[in-house]
Amino acid sequence: MIKEITIIGGAGHVGLAFALICTSKNIKVHIHDINKKSINLIKKGIMPHKEKNGSVFLKKAIRKNLLSYSSEIDNIKINKINVICLGTPIDEFLNPQYNILIDIIKKLSPYLNNNNHIIIRSTVYPGTTRFLHQLLVNNNKNIKMSFFPERFVQGLALEEFNKFPHLVGSINRKSENECKKFLKIFSKDIITMKPEEAEVTKLFLNSYRYIQFSIANQFFKIADSANLNYEKINYAMTHKYKRGKIPSPGFTAGPCLFKDTMQLRAFSNHNFSLGMEAMSTNEGLVNYLVDKIKRENNLSNKIVGILGMSFKAESDDIRNSLSYKLKKILSLHSKNVLTSDPYVKNDKDIKSLNYVKNKSDILVIATPHKIYNKLKTKKTIYNIWIDF
Ligand SMILES: NC(=O)c1ccc[n+]([C@@H]2O[C@H](COP(=O)([O-])OP(=O)(O)OC[C@H]3O[C@@H](n4cnc5c(N)ncnc54)[C@H](O)[C@@H]3O)[C@@H](O)[C@H]2O)c1
Repeated sequence: MIKEITIIGGAGHVGLAFALICTSKNIKVHIHDINKKSINLIKKGIMPHKEKNGSVFLKKAIRKNLLSYSSEIDNIKINKINVICLGTPIDEFLNPQYNILIDIIKKLSPYLNNNNHIIIRSTVYPGTTRFLHQLLVNNNKNIKMSFFPERFVQGLALEEFNKFPHLVGSINRKSENECKKFLKIFSKDIITMKPEEAEVTKLFLNSYRYIQFSIANQFFKIADSANLNYEKINYAMTHKYKRGKIPSPGFTAGPCLFKDTMQLRAFSNHNFSLGMEAMSTNEGLVNYLVDKIKRENNLSNKIVGILGMSFKAESDDIRNSLSYKLKKILSLHSKNVLTSDPYVKNDKDIKSLNYVKNKSDILVIATPHKIYNKLKTKKTIYNIWIDF
């Protein structure tokens, strides 16, 4: 029975969620994370980012004394199971930044022995798990290694964790058996496959979602350019018609979908034109909207208020949010741009909703936070989201 695990990157979105899932099963968690600010918040029982029920789970874990912490590698506590949840961004060439995981494996190597198991929970370029394992083998560390991707919707990790099967791609039978034994604490619904298959599965899923959103965005652009009411068309397509279900158009952004589509593109040797088309459509929606606002208003003497700066509704996460791209482009064309968001805490330019509403001539709902549903104003509002 596993009594304690280590989570590297344990203060991040994926890492902390998994830490809290473990502590809810009375498993102790050693959180290793270089972000001391987040660690200090966690120690005080404060979630460093928004996560449904996160505070409740965290306070319980602290009360039961189930968490320990380190920020320097010299102080890390290695356990039998060690889960890596570091960010895996792409570089300026839209290729994966392989070094992040290579560096952490090199740093961990002196502390590891053959009894240890590394579980990669970051989304990775296919082949990464085997490559990292080989690095350790070359260093005479014949440890166990598995890939166990996260599939939750950000912000709902605790709720969604056991709603669908867990995917596991282990490097060998011993690793697979141990990983399955560990995960059975949470659920018996486990799909095992080769590490590369599990890695590709995760990229396919995120790229699929990215492409699905791009279809909605493309349809919106086609209908709107022809002066047709897309909201009505969307209703006609989706109402009581299962096969017509397509998502709302809107800014498709965040730390995962775009970069994982680009990871798949790199893996396919750049033969993923559908992914590239999706990228142009999704990123281009901002430009489309700015052009429309420019066409319909004399922007140079107008103040534009952007409502919603996080990358998605009810979230405080601004990573890769297209609201910032909108702000950048609008700033070039308008008298001023003001921004507001009820959840975002790490942007000093953000003003209150009332301030932005009163001072702006035009409003744009960039993120469909529920509170904007009740917005009462006579000012022109641009909103492409449906049913939020
Ligand atoms: N956020 C999501 O909804 C989500 C969902 C599924 C998969 N993923 C994938 O999970 C991975 C992590 O994403 P995230 O959103 O949790 O990122 P994040 O930035 O929120 O978390 C990463 C954490 O790692 C820490 N870190 C960075 N370098 C470190 C180091 N050398 N040593 C120790 N800690 C270090 C950071 O301080 C941070 O707290 C990514 O590969 C992402 O694609 C994310």
